[in-house]
Amino acid sequence: MGVRYIGSKARVSEAIVDLAGPADDGRFVDAFCGTGAVAAAAAERGWAVTVNDSLPSAVCMSVGAVLGQKDVPFDGLGSYHRAIVLLNEVEGEPGFLHSHYSPASLHTAGLERRYFTEDNAARLDAMRKQIRIWSTDEIISPAEENLLLADLMQAANSVANISGTYGCFLKNWTTTARKNVSLTPRVLPDRSTDVHAVVGDVFALSTTEGDTVYFDPPYTKRQYSAYYHILETLHAGDQPEVGGITGLRPWQDKSSVFCYKVKALDALTRLVLGTRAKKILLSYSNEGHVAKESLLNALTEAGRVTVHEIKTIGRYRPNAQASAAGDTVVEYVFEIDPVSCGTVPAGADDSEAAYA
Ligand SMILES: C[S@@+](CC[C@H](N)C(=O)[O-])C[C@H]1O[C@@H](n2cnc3c(N)ncnc32)[C@H](O)[C@@H]1O
Repeated sequence: MGVRYIGSKARVSEAIVDLAGPADDGRFVDAFCGTGAVAAAAAERGWAVTVNDSLPSAVCMSVGAVLGQKDVPFDGLGSYHRAIVLLNEVEGEPGFLHSHYSPASLHTAGLERRYFTEDNAARLDAMRKQIRIWSTDEIISPAEENLLLADLMQAANSVANISGTYGCFLKNWTTTARKNVSLTPRVLPDRSTDVHAVVGDVFALSTTEGDTVYFDPPYTKRQYSAYYHILETLHAGDQPEVGGITGLRPWQDKSSVFCYKVKALDALTRLVLGTRAKKILLSYSNEGHVAKESLLNALTEAGRVTVHEIKTIGRYRPNAQASAAGDTVVEYVFEIDPVSCGTVPAGADDSEAAYA
């Protein structure tokens, strides 16, 4: 199971990359990359990609999503599959996840944080440690380390006792949470990928006039640094001061301006107006802090704006049942051509219907 990420564009990534047009000499910049679903679709079409996010765990997932076989030969271990086999054979060894995010937290925090069974937490700790040892000993390259960490986060997610995010754990164990954690190798495309990875605030990201820049900012108050705090810790392999019922690590330094209703419109406008690009694509939702019309008005200052509508199904329920329940989210992609001025109002472009 992949990581169930709030606002993931996995189901609409092809439609978004369609709007970018064919790959050219510039880069496809996925500036709020999250899981990297959109960057992966762009890389598949031959784009050189840049992935950026304020969360290191997200950048790691995204790089993992775009790497090709030729980027990760695993010469030091024989092969990618061999690396996965070796990791799956590692004996559990209680570490930070075990003491803070399994029932063993009763001894360190006075309550059972039921994110992982004790066995799975100890195995995740041991696998994380093994990856660090291989990296320190230069048995694996930085790209290979990145791929294994991305796989480890996916494996953790598939046995996490949660209902989608790490914002809270479930009181009762789910069937999947009781299964033994195990890494699954992904199918890597037969290529090498030109990928540039940046961890940082989007306002610090530098782009050029030749780039196609995709923005997929948060659109609700949910802060990713808090909702995915355990992925951050697993990725970092650190031992932060954590507290509260859910064992939250300090996250405020990564809080996003886009999650505040009163600040979102100003932030979005500043971002688009301050970006150098050949084309800018901005995803937003009808459930977001900022109304479509307000955003459209503000963006017009940046150039010619076309609004594309991409209908998708509500959070985590990609099936007919959810659709029948009227749980439809309308995703907009604002296409901004920074060179010319003027607005094509929503619905005026026939091509939009293709995505409905
Ligand atoms: C809607 S999600 C992106 C989802 C992604 N397109 C996908 O398909 O998985 C928004 C992402 O923006 C990141 N983010 C929020 N504020 C940011 C900022 N100021 N600078 C960089 N990244 C930020 C979050 O960590 C999160 O990963």
